[in-house]
Parts: sequence; C-alpha cells; structure tokens
Amino acid sequence: MNDMSSPPAVHSPEPAHAATNRLDYRVPDWQVPEIALDFALSPEATRVRATLSVTRTAPNAPLRLNGDGIAVATLSVDGQVHNHWDMDGNDLVIMLPGDRHEVTIETVINPVANTQLSGLYASNGLLCTQCEAEGFRRITFFPDRPDVLSRYQVRMSGDKAQFPVLLSNGNPVASGDGPAGTHWAQWDDPWLKPSYLFALVAGDLVAQRDSFVTMSGRKVDLAIYVRPGDETRTDHAMRSLIASMAWDEKAYGREYDLDLFNIVAVSDFNAGAMENKGLNVFNTRYILADPETANDGDYDAIEGVVAHEYFHNWSGNRVTCRDWFQLSLKEGFTVLRDQQFSADRGSAPVKRIEDVRVLRAAQFPEDSGPLAHPIRPDSYQEISNFYTATVYNKGAEVIRMMDVMTGPERFRQGTDLYFDRHDGQAATCEDFVKAIEDGAGIDLAQFRRWYEQAGTPRIDVTMAHAGDTVTLTLKQTVPPTPGQPDKQPMVIPLRTALFDRATAKHSGEHLLVLTDAEHTFTFTGHATAPVVSINRGFSAPVALNNPLADADLVFLAAHDDDPFARYEAMQQLVVQHLVAAITDKLSDTARDSGRAAIGEAFAKVVADPALDDLMRGEFIILPGEGYLAEQLDPVDPGRVRAEREGLKAWLGTHLSEAWRALHDRTAAISGAASGTFSLDPVSRGARKLKTQALVYLAAADPAEAIRRAAAQYAAADNMTDRQGALMVLCGLDTPEREAALADFARRFAGNALVIDKWFSLQAASLHPHAIEHVKALAKHPEFTLANPNRARALYMGFMANTAAFHDPSGEGYRMIADLILTLDPINGSLAARFVPPLGRFRKFEPGRAALMRGELERIAAVTTLSRDVREQVSKSLG
Ligand code: TRP
Ligand code: ZN
Repeated sequence: MNDMSSPPAVHSPEPAHAATNRLDYRVPDWQVPEIALDFALSPEATRVRATLSVTRTAPNAPLRLNGDGIAVATLSVDGQVHNHWDMDGNDLVIMLPGDRHEVTIETVINPVANTQLSGLYASNGLLCTQCEAEGFRRITFFPDRPDVLSRYQVRMSGDKAQFPVLLSNGNPVASGDGPAGTHWAQWDDPWLKPSYLFALVAGDLVAQRDSFVTMSGRKVDLAIYVRPGDETRTDHAMRSLIASMAWDEKAYGREYDLDLFNIVAVSDFNAGAMENKGLNVFNTRYILADPETANDGDYDAIEGVVAHEYFHNWSGNRVTCRDWFQLSLKEGFTVLRDQQFSADRGSAPVKRIEDVRVLRAAQFPEDSGPLAHPIRPDSYQEISNFYTATVYNKGAEVIRMMDVMTGPERFRQGTDLYFDRHDGQAATCEDFVKAIEDGAGIDLAQFRRWYEQAGTPRIDVTMAHAGDTVTLTLKQTVPPTPGQPDKQPMVIPLRTALFDRATAKHSGEHLLVLTDAEHTFTFTGHATAPVVSINRGFSAPVALNNPLADADLVFLAAHDDDPFARYEAMQQLVVQHLVAAITDKLSDTARDSGRAAIGEAFAKVVADPALDDLMRGEFIILPGEGYLAEQLDPVDPGRVRAEREGLKAWLGTHLSEAWRALHDRTAAISGAASGTFSLDPVSRGARKLKTQALVYLAAADPAEAIRRAAAQYAAADNMTDRQGALMVLCGLDTPEREAALADFARRFAGNALVIDKWFSLQAASLHPHAIEHVKALAKHPEFTLANPNRARALYMGFMANTAAFHDPSGEGYRMIADLILTLDPINGSLAARFVPPLGRFRKFEPGRAALMRGELERIAAVTTLSRDVREQVSKSLG
C-alpha cells in the first residue's frame, strides 16, 4: 500500500511503455478455430485447463500466446508433454512442428486477489469475468486479439452450495453432480467469437425470467440474474431488454440468434456493462431499479445500457473489430443505435438535447486537451485508456452525420449491406464506411477525415443581406491537436433555416454541406434580413460561432420549430452573457440588459402552454460550469461558479412567483400527492421541474427553498423527488441539511447504489465546505476504493464540482493525485480515469495551472505506476 503521509521518493521517470500502432497491424500467424475450457472453481485457486486447436497461417512462425500475471502449470501438445516453449515477457511462445495441433495448458488463478476486476474475479461472493479488452490473458494463455475467432466449449465445476448457478456463453448442454458436494455444468457457444466476449459467472443468483418471440418465430428464454433479494428490482431492465429486441428487428432488421439471453448484475464492475455473447454482465447500477431507490435518470440509463449491450449482439459480436484501433466500429455505432432506440421510446427532442449535453461536457474537453485523439486512434500504450467519450460519443455523432446526409432509408440500405457483407468477420472502420458508401450510394471520400483528425471543428458564421439576397459565409477551422498540427477541411452537414422576423416562419430547411475551409451559400427571396438557425438538431459535432444579437436569440428561443435549435438559442443567450460577465467585459447596463433578455426568454418558456414539462425542463437548465469553461481561455473556475450562481440567483428572484407556482403545480402532479408512481412523461416532467424550481428558489431565497425542499423530501414516494430535495438541501448551510442526510443514510442503509448517491451528492454539492466534506467521507466506514461505484461516487462527484476541485489552495488537486497513487496498485484502469481533469491544466489561470502540473509531476515521479496511469500522466504532461 502507498503511504500517503510521506512524499514518494523522486526517481527519474520510467521510459514510456512501448506504443502499439494502428498501421503495424498484421494478420495472426495462427488461428484457434476451437477452444475447450475446463474450470475447477475456487475463490482463491481456480484451475483452468484450456485446450486450443490451433492452425497455422504463416510458415515457420511459433505459436505466440498472450498472458498477464499467469504462469504455465502444465503444457502438452497433441497429448504429449511438450518442452519446446519459452516465456517472452508475458507471452508464452511455443515451437510447433506442424500446421495443426492441439495445445493444452493449465493455469491456476486467484480470483479473490484480483482487485483489477479484469479476468476472473470475485464480487460479493460471486465469481465473474471481464475480458474486454485484454482480460482473457489473465485467465489463460491465448492469442488475445479480436481477430482470432473461436468456437468455445466450457465446462466448470465447483462447490454446489457456494456456486449453485453456473453460467457461460451460448447454450447449456449438460450438468450434473460431482464428488464431495460439487456440481458441474457444460456450455457450448455455437457462434465464433473473439476472446474478449468470453464470460463465466458462478454463484448464488436468482433469475427473473421472461421470453421473447423473434420475427422469424423463435422463442428466446430471457433471464436476469441478481443476488437473492434484488429480484424485485429487475422489471424495468427486463422491459427494456424486450423492447430492445423488438426495436432492433424493426429499425435495423436484426434478429437475436440464440435460444437464450442471460444478464447477470454484479456490484463490482469497472464499466457500465459488457456484451459477452449470450451472457451480458452488468454493473448493478444499470439493472436494479424501483421507484424508491432509482431516480428517473437511473431508469433512462438502465433502458439505454440494456439496449446498448443487446445491440452489440450485431454491432460488435456478429460483426466484431479487427483490432482495438477499430473500437469505434462497434462502440460509436452501438451508441448511435441506443440513442435512436431511447429517442423512439421517449421524447426524441429531449433525448437529443441530453446526448448533446453529454458530448459537450465529456467529449469537447477531451478534444481540446492533451489526450485528444481521433475516433479511430493511431497509437496507444494501454487500450483501456481509449474507452473514451471520443470513441463512443463522437463516434456515434460521426455515423449520425452519415444518416443525416443519406436520409434514413438509404442509411438503412447501408447498414443492411454492412451486416450482410461482414457477418462473422472482424472488420474495420473502413469496412463500415465502404458499406455505407456502397449501400447508401454516397461518396464518403473526404468524410473519412472524421476518422483521422482529432479536434472539434469550429465554424464561424457571417451573414450579409442585400436586396432580397442573403449570403451566408461559413468558415471552418479544425484546431491543432497532439501529433496533428495541420488539419484538412472536413465534410460538415449543417441543417439550416432562415426565419422571417415578421411571420416567425421559414420556407423550408436546407442541408448545407460544408466541404471547404470557407464556403459561401446564397439564398434569394428574403426582403428583410432573416434570423439564421444553423446546425439544427445538432447535425454536426462542431462548435458553432454564430454571433446573434440577444433579441435574435430570444426570438429563436421562442419560435424555432426545431426543438434542439430552440434549446440551443437559450443556451447561447446565457453562454454569451456569462462569458462576457466572467471575462469582465460587461458594463452595468450591459449586464442589466443581458439579464433582462435571459429573464424574458425564461419567462416565456416557463409559461409556454405548447411545451411539455420534460422539454420545458431542458430549456431552463443553465449551461454547465465545464461547458462554460470550454469557452474561456484561461479559465478561472471561481469566477465561473460566482457568475453562474449569480445569474441563477437573479433568475430566482426575478421569476420567484413563477418558480413558486411551478413548484406548487408540479408537487401536486407527482409524488405522494398523486398516490401512484408513474414513468409517463407528464409525471416525469413534473418531477424534473419540481426540483429545478427548488434550485432557482434556493439561489434566491434559501429560507423558502429549505422549507419547500424539506417538505418535498418528507412527502417523496420516489427517488427523483427525494434526491432532488436532498441535493438542494445539501448545497445549503442549514441544520435541515444534516437531518436529511442522516435520514437518507438510515433509510437506505445496506443499499449500495443508494449509498453511492449519498456520497456523490455531498461531493458534488454547492456547499462552501464541500472539500472538507469529501475529506471526511473518504474516512467514512462505508467508503472503499475496492468498489468502483463507490470510488467514482465520491471522487468523480468531487471532480465535477469544479469550484471545489479547483479550490485555489490546490487541496483538491492534491486529494485527487493522492487518490490516483493509492488506487493505482489496486485498480490501474480505474485510477487512470481520474487523470484527465488534472491533465487539462493548460486551460487554467497560471496559479492553478502550476498546482495541477505539480501534482501530475508528483505522480509521474513514481516508478511503479500502472501502464494505464503512466500513459495518461505522461501524455498530459506532453
Ligand atoms: N464493451 C463495453 C460496452 O461498451 C465496455 C466495457 C465493459 C469495458 N467492460 C469494460 C471497457 C472494461 C473497458 C474495460 O458496453
Ligand atoms: Zn459498448
């Protein structure tokens, strides 16, 4: 363990780990058409016997098998003890005389000691696996790369009382009792798959079962396995699964291909969930829900993640990745598919706004920082570091642009061809683009730059009007990123409409496709200068600089018929104002007129009878501190917090009657007052606005907000209302805060997912002493770094709290650096996730930048860092 009280000794930094480069790809020397695995399960010493049928594809090459932290116990070839092998670092290299052999290797692994949660590990009494990206090599020696596709036969045996349920991929083919209270099961997966899709789960689990009949009439048995006691909280996940299966048939023509589909929920998990063939493994947080313990956002996240993993069955499993540089082939496409699914299930415009908000909060900063990379990276040291918002979310945006340009029918012809052409293959992003080109009939030659160039393109818009003609000039700049100083122009599809001021209408939307560095478009028939609405629906993932007068933004916020554009106008109105205020560019009169414009837009939105509450809620969310910081150079986070809170307080006061009325109205629609909990849009909209009204009131009139929040907390019959009220109380220095926190902890004691909320609410709160709270919480008996959800709840919550994390003392930076050093030996890939916020030091004012950099250097000086943390820290320091 790291001793955090004494500073680490300073050594010269280790040489950077060898990079893997995309262009070095070579086809494998050997294939493994079949593998039989036999597990003798035991928490501290599981014996794994792997029998590989190997076939040579390159003359003379030895068989090279990857391993990680494992040793050969026995090795035989074609049934004979074989001594012609060697270790080359972690790789097992076996000299083989012929072109086909059967290689049997035994290893012994210790799941309980596996704190990295990669490979076979223990969680809450269960044994489970996580093999993506390179975890299979922690179980047995194997060519652990996604272009080696094998047929898996799995046998496992273990203590029947300890492991009553034994699961793996594919179909169960046999089971029975063994000696001394053991039992065994055999599973056979008929579909060829790469090693990263292998899974095994053993333990005391109960299943919720249902079934689904596919479009060709096959019945599929569905089961969601959870720990006993949790089976009452799986209904929403099951509904989501069934809806996903139906949707993929209708939207993409994709049918499920096994007779059963199993999901297991585990409480220790590095990511959200994993798409193992026929046996998805989930973080409990994306499965378990009931109204008392899950908020509306949790319900949405469950639906989205269940769909995401299910959709991987085609976009990921049937067509997999040739190598890990192609990760966006499965992830970008699957994110797009889950976004489309969720849009169809609920409010499409609200979903689009949420997705763009995530992109801007998580991906834009990545694209403008030292870790920027294209959606198809060219090089990595540790692939775990490339499961990023760029590969996932920007990857989805890039494919969405293809859809925008082709239209949905032709896009579907493209995806049909892709699935057809590459079914059963390990494919590349290039294969995907080519299939869309061929199937949809579109030339994507220049568009491919989206796969090659990192950085968020910036579009500068100028409009001129003369006579009846409008001239729009669009200039694109793709900023330099590490290793890519000069950029080529991108293909940028921008949905655009020109609004007549008098009628508040436009005469049809245009799809402007920008291909050059500068592009001019003319439109005739405009007697007066129109208001231009551009990048409607966020048709391209760019940063648009379209300077509009406040009055024009108020106009679009009220009249644009594209809901996203309406939201965007509201955001731009607020962003322009806050950026000017933060950078001291506002005179008192400009501040007043800016606030007045924002107040007018808010008042219209709050009162607009044509809006449903879910959408109304989107329009009144202030741009986040992180997104505001993106617009500033350098950033002073204290100023961002102060101006944003100042505007919130002003709106709270200016519209106080409206907020009170809104809180009264929504409190009556949902919550205990209505007597029943519902996920319908009216109830959800009411719950969303109820807490938003409290947020504005809290900024203006804390005493009244405390009264209302305490009442909302006490009356709550659901987690959305309860958590919202607690969040508001948590930001205020008041005795009601302590009372509510104590009640919450008592009420939900033993429910790990809810206790995570308790930690993260305090870490992310507006309370002036948030740093002290986090320090104390780190010593709380319920806190542990061994559980990723708990570690993330406290420390990701804290890093999202920009004013606290960026406390001018540097205490926040030190705390995170200490965390990284303590967590690294336990779970390196999780530790690496905390590095990027420190790595953005160049964005901040010099005092903070130096403190952040100093902490990165302190980490870099440690010689024993994981490859994960080493890569992120050294790239951040540049
Ligand atoms: N493939 C998974 C998904 O997209 C992501 C994932 C699961 C993962 N487990 C992981 C990524 C472990 C890195 C490490 O849903
Ligand atoms: Zn995925």
